[in-house]
Amino acid sequence: MGPKRNALHLVRRHLAAMPGYKPMDSIDVVARDLGVAEEDIVKLDGNENQYGPSPKVAEALGGFGFYHLYPDPEQRRVREAVAAYVGADASQIVMGNGSDELLSIAAMLFLSPGDTMANAPPTFGVYTFLGHVYDANIVQVERNEDFGLDLPALERALDDGAKMLYIASPNNPSGNCFPRDQLERLLAHNAMIVVDEAYAEFSGESFVDMVTEHDNLIVARTFSKWAGLAGLRAGYAVFPAALAEIVWNVKVPFNLTVAAEQAILASLEDREWLNENIALIVAERERLFSRLMGLPWLRPYPSQANFILCEVRGPAAKDVCDRLAEQGIMVRYFDSPGLRNCIRISVGKPDHSDRVLDALKGMGAGVGK
Ligand SMILES: Cc1ncc(COP(=O)(O)O)c(C=O)c1O
Repeated sequence: MGPKRNALHLVRRHLAAMPGYKPMDSIDVVARDLGVAEEDIVKLDGNENQYGPSPKVAEALGGFGFYHLYPDPEQRRVREAVAAYVGADASQIVMGNGSDELLSIAAMLFLSPGDTMANAPPTFGVYTFLGHVYDANIVQVERNEDFGLDLPALERALDDGAKMLYIASPNNPSGNCFPRDQLERLLAHNAMIVVDEAYAEFSGESFVDMVTEHDNLIVARTFSKWAGLAGLRAGYAVFPAALAEIVWNVKVPFNLTVAAEQAILASLEDREWLNENIALIVAERERLFSRLMGLPWLRPYPSQANFILCEVRGPAAKDVCDRLAEQGIMVRYFDSPGLRNCIRISVGKPDHSDRVLDALKGMGAGVGK
């Protein structure tokens, strides 16, 4: 036996070296850092639902008496309810710890080290992160200037051997959906297409109905955004039935908590309340968009989700973001090749928009100067 070495050398080499995914801070951490109360923070950096969950969720969680027992490993009740909600068969649905977990399961199913994955940036950073976790080669096919897909280039990537492609619709952070005929074209290739519909309830568009006819389509969905359950981690995906059978064999058991299960069931029973809030958010999105258009140094992009991306003309987006944070207003900024000098503002209640608009107006174009 040789001398005992530091255990870090046992870590798979590509994981030890990979860049991590940096999610935003939680509200308690932000409040502590800024030295203000959580209630005074306007949190518009995570595309969360400021109306919160249905009041029936707290009732269901308070009245539930079996937190000491494991959930149903086959997630039967909740799958039936979700299947009825999305118009799929329960055999096609697998629930998970946020839709992030289902996106990760998709990568686990298809990506061996050295396989190629295509990606369409600017988009949700988790896709590239998952490619790195599974040691895939990632072909980045930049979107067009209007954030539409570069379809010929994506099709070439699939023809050249990319096994898998994630596409968000609506896309985060640009807010645009992609058309059905483009999905049909991608599905004609020998590759798995994972459509991420985290924001579908705000656009009213979905591709779930196409899963039954295509054995290479997975649609990931979530209760985080429209139903306000981000903190409870409640996601799912609609799989071709044969693939779902494999997922049951490879995923960890009990990956949906009983709390998430109760919250999902209560949410689906209170659709009317939640739909009213979706309508309020969509109306507020349009109001915020027109107000942002009135600021000459911002160029907002039309959105079908619950956030608005704005190009910042002149000042540095990071400075704008920092200046807003000083006032307790959290937004995201981006500055990467396909996403130069942008901020993304989540759509909250009208008073949240007013706070951010007042702060932006107060800054003018002199930020960072
Ligand atoms: C495009 C997209 N997909 C998935 C997620 C993750 O959602 P969940 O909370 O269901 O894991 C997010 C979260 O912001 C997102 O923007």
